Amino acid sequence: MSTTHSAYKPGTAPIKAEFLVPSWPARSGSLQGENAATASAESCDTSVAQGQVETASYQIADGATTEMPKQDTSTGTLSAEAEPKRKRARGQNKGRQFARMDDDIALCANLAKGRVCEFADTCKFSHDLCAYLTHKPRDIPFIAPPADKDRVQQMNESERSAYLDALYAQAVASETPGPTEAASDPIQHSLRDDTQCPYFRERGACPIGWKCRFLGAHVRRVSPSKAVVGDEAQGMLQTGLELVVDDARYAAYLHRPSLFAHRQHADNDEVNWLPPGVARSLRTKKYVYEKAPVIVSTLQQESQALQAMPPSEAASTSLGKGPLRVNYALAKTEAELSAALPRDASPDTLEAYEDALRNARDGSDAAADTARVRPSEKRRLRWHGDLYLAPLTTTGNLPFRRLCASFGSDIHCGEMGMAEAFTQGHASEWSLVRRWEGERIFGTQICGAKPDFLVPAAEVLAREVGAGLDFVDVNCGCPIDLVYNKGAGSALLDHVSKLGRIVRGMSEALGEIPLTIKLRTGTTAKLTTHKIFARAQTEWGVGGITLHGRSRKQRYKNDANWDYIRTCADTLRESVRTWNEESRHADEPEMAPIPIYGNGDVYGWRDYEAHMTEAHVDGTMIARGALIKPWIFTEIKERRDWDISSRERLDMVRQFASYGLTHWGADTQGINTTRRFLCEMLSFTHRYVPLGVLEHVPVRMNDRPPPFEGRDPLETLLSSPSAQDWTRIADMFLGPAPDNWRFTPKHKSNSFDDASESQG
Ligand SMILES: Cc1cc2nc3c(=O)[nH]c(=O)nc-3n(C[C@H](O)[C@H](O)[C@H](O)COP(=O)(O)O)c2cc1C
Ligand SMILES: [Zn+2]
Ligand SMILES: [Zn+2]
Repeated sequence: MSTTHSAYKPGTAPIKAEFLVPSWPARSGSLQGENAATASAESCDTSVAQGQVETASYQIADGATTEMPKQDTSTGTLSAEAEPKRKRARGQNKGRQFARMDDDIALCANLAKGRVCEFADTCKFSHDLCAYLTHKPRDIPFIAPPADKDRVQQMNESERSAYLDALYAQAVASETPGPTEAASDPIQHSLRDDTQCPYFRERGACPIGWKCRFLGAHVRRVSPSKAVVGDEAQGMLQTGLELVVDDARYAAYLHRPSLFAHRQHADNDEVNWLPPGVARSLRTKKYVYEKAPVIVSTLQQESQALQAMPPSEAASTSLGKGPLRVNYALAKTEAELSAALPRDASPDTLEAYEDALRNARDGSDAAADTARVRPSEKRRLRWHGDLYLAPLTTTGNLPFRRLCASFGSDIHCGEMGMAEAFTQGHASEWSLVRRWEGERIFGTQICGAKPDFLVPAAEVLAREVGAGLDFVDVNCGCPIDLVYNKGAGSALLDHVSKLGRIVRGMSEALGEIPLTIKLRTGTTAKLTTHKIFARAQTEWGVGGITLHGRSRKQRYKNDANWDYIRTCADTLRESVRTWNEESRHADEPEMAPIPIYGNGDVYGWRDYEAHMTEAHVDGTMIARGALIKPWIFTEIKERRDWDISSRERLDMVRQFASYGLTHWGADTQGINTTRRFLCEMLSFTHRYVPLGVLEHVPVRMNDRPPPFEGRDPLETLLSSPSAQDWTRIADMFLGPAPDNWRFTPKHKSNSFDDASESQG
């Protein structure tokens, strides 16, 4: 290992010789003591013990962890009809399931919030608060910056270093459990006065109430409990305790500046909740679509007419191009006529019916395009230089997007949802459209094989949560077999006419909400996507377009082809120029440019600027770069290489935990969901190679570091490729993982195996 690393070897991150070690430690060493290479015997023992635990897996449906029954803690809009927990295998979720961890005693939710339960004695859940608190594990210590400073970047130098030191000390302390004090009051034993509750800190009130694992932060001791003083005990149900609300802070929260015009609930900073009853009517197939059936049949008629044409005529017709011409009035009349037709209609009645139908059709021809949405009626996406955080299954959850927003991302797309699952009212799918109100530009991505699924999904999205969607994106790039073999995702790249029908049909169903598409270069090595770019705006009316510069077959191999991205961008611009030229004399407004975004391998501000100037794009979309270093958005905006310290990175982990807890909940279940998604995040962030240990910048995303030690033990720990170390980091903020806890990363990014990142 005595090589000097002055010569850069592609594929290997150029680590300075003094940081190299012979191999990654099985598990990183103590944060207090020496560095990783000298991991203590004690920590090795722990790792063996954990290894044994790991073999015992405890599983229930994955969907449950991302579903929102949790949200009954805040607004309850979905919870009343949360779908039954059902085992559902989808994409890579298949066979990879997580324990749903809950309290031993199921405390009544009303009671937990300090309210009177209307079910009284008939309630299925426990009202024995004293017993609940007696069995409750001790609060989890949590430290946070002062309430008015959400990010360390907002602090001055001395505040920051004091805070980061305290954070570090807490992390170290969490690894060395102190002496167990004899509990003087068995009912009050779980409380820690020195913790902070993320909800309470943000809102001045905690919707989780007694079930909060940071309860000490919002409870007042008014007397000893009944276990100590019997009937003398005061407080709620003789616990000697009362829940606390910080009235001033709560009022400030309710009246916080409106970041978002369509706020649904004053006491919740998330939007895009399905209105009551909608999920149920979707599930029971009672939902009434107003547009989708007419759109789908119009598309069918159109393609039948096109097939019936001789090829020469089909090539020049305007049929199948431009905004879809849908005649809802005629469709309604037709439906009414046929509904009025008796099943045993006489030949005379039938004839009258046929006449009426013909008359209706003749009469409506003149006004055929009454209700169509012309492209100019769509809201226009004016993205230029806005930084786009890619749609990311599992990892692109709301807390992660919120973290990226704090570092400067501008455009967010939610995780991919399946069209059919939306129309079937699956709560897990609908949770993917949830938006944090601080997300400035937000859309949702949907995946499906044909208009029959995608058009109804577009209609219900627009109608039920449209106020909270700036755009809807169609996934035309997902390479995984499960999706591709159904004809969805990247399979659409080879079915261009169908893609055109999908775009035109969905655009119509979405009304003024723009539709965007996300593509790859083709399914195989043959570059085919420029053909889509030639038609996407002028013939189909897409509102924006993103191209990942790799094929389906490539997945993540080789570099993204930015030359081809430029070819495609040029092709689209040229098609618009020609269209405008040809329609100059017609009664059509000029077609305005749509945003074209390039995607692939952006890992720093230099990549970003090179692509912006060379690839003729309006911006870049960033996926793995954000997963590995969420602060990439700051680097790009400030044109700097940020040698971020390990303590600042620890604060980022704390920040994610805090956002996770206020999204998934601060009770036992929410904590473990947060733990799981925090580990997913760490399975990417550990790949970051600190600038200070590198021979030179820039470093490339796919350069794998040889085993190295960081500049301090925490840096070493944060670079660890071991899933046990990720759990260990999560434990620092979320308390010890349950015994049956087990984490297997969904995307196996730790293996650095290109092919393993099979998403998108
Ligand atoms: C973990 C992970 C999940 C992804 N999920 C999606 C997805 O749901 N929809 C999608 O269109 N692309 C998805 N992708 C692909 C990315 O959006 C992006 O196109 C790809 O990673 C290339 O960009 P990059 O080089 O910046 O990573 C995913 C990628 C990763 C690594
Ligand atoms: Zn109850
Ligand atoms: Zn709380």
